[in-house]
Amino acid sequence: MSQDERAAVGLGVGLIGFGTIGTGVVRVLRKNASSIAARLGFPLRLVRIADLDTERDRGVDLGGVRFDADAEALIDDPAVDLVVELIGGIATARRLILRALERGKPVVTANKALLALHGKEIFDAGRAHGADVAFEASVGGGIPILRSLREGLAANRILSVRGIINGTTNYVLTEMEKSGEPFEVVLKRAQELGYAEADPAFDIDGVDAAHKITLLAAMAFGAELTAEEVPTEGIRAVTGTDIESAEELGYRIKLLGITKLHAEEAGERIEVRVHPTMIPSESLLAKVDGAMNAIAVHGDAVGPTLFYGAGAGELPTASAVIGDLMELAREVRRGSNSRVAPLSFLPESLLPKPIFPLGELFGRCYLRFSALDRGGVLALITGALGEHGVSIESVLQKGRGHPGESVPIVVLTHPVRESAVRRALEKIDASRALTAPTRLIRIEEDL
Ligand code: HSE
Repeated sequence: MSQDERAAVGLGVGLIGFGTIGTGVVRVLRKNASSIAARLGFPLRLVRIADLDTERDRGVDLGGVRFDADAEALIDDPAVDLVVELIGGIATARRLILRALERGKPVVTANKALLALHGKEIFDAGRAHGADVAFEASVGGGIPILRSLREGLAANRILSVRGIINGTTNYVLTEMEKSGEPFEVVLKRAQELGYAEADPAFDIDGVDAAHKITLLAAMAFGAELTAEEVPTEGIRAVTGTDIESAEELGYRIKLLGITKLHAEEAGERIEVRVHPTMIPSESLLAKVDGAMNAIAVHGDAVGPTLFYGAGAGELPTASAVIGDLMELAREVRRGSNSRVAPLSFLPESLLPKPIFPLGELFGRCYLRFSALDRGGVLALITGALGEHGVSIESVLQKGRGHPGESVPIVVLTHPVRESAVRRALEKIDASRALTAPTRLIRIEEDL
């Protein structure tokens, strides 16, 4: 085929996984075919789809595109130049992606779990076979945050990346605030509305956000790490009292993925963590409601930046997948491998970096004690905090307990080393006057 003929035909795309996002990819490829071709100089043609469910009507016209359950045959099909993996999960997705890369076919994936756990193997395979992997859709849905870190902000030394990177938990927290209803009730509604998965643990327990912050930390700092190393806490234990007290203290509670650089004489360490966080109510991140995502990146040259948009959903995620497809298609057409490294830093520059221990964090803490409402309890709490050098900024007792019942007592500390608070809590929680383990919520002020 001559160059002109090849240009006219364009590159062939094979789609593995024809669920919600796959359907969005088909829709957007069709709807915006001419503007995609005008940007690339050649068309992107969907040539083949594989999914185990070949019966369900997805409501899109496939116009003769071959559709069956054979993902291996799709990968091996000479008409397929670029492979899109949207099946999720680990084992099968890993095998299929490696197969495509071994055949020199670039892969676009939204699979943050796979990359956050087995990224090194996948990226090494891509390099060995001269085929790239792109994964913009894996973090922040349609928000082009990875491309911004890899390219737009590449001049910077990144100092921090902090964000609302899970829409389900942000929806639940927002609804708890608005309605005053407890976690379980709001979660059930989120499931009925289709926001949360039937098994919502992945979102609610912070695992999804941990996968995403792992990729963001790699890109921001050239840090080689896996999601298993990220201290992770979800939102199950956030109560109405926490939300109400946060408001009284001038904060809102958001599940944040946080990663920061600590440049020290002995070398660099990185903070990386996922947990419910109190942030000032007037900050832009605090105003991000519902299922939306937002990511604040601070670079030494650019200063603070904020990226906002839909973190999930058929069309926003398809937007990210197709942006990646176009980038990889240009590479294939150019016949060179000059694309920016997938994790922004060259593989030889990716280094394991020690993770900053939570105990060394320094900042204000919100503490919610569950204590019997009787004399001397407050003295016990403030005494133990004082003994460990934890200075108190304010104390609120929420309501009054009947005899034998516990009441929430809320304490806001001055900035303090977390290890000191933990030591004080060990002593306090050992008392019979405390009816449940004390809850600590970290506060991020400078957002
Ligand atoms: N389950 C994710 C969320 C969307 O709730 O944000 C996909 O990353």
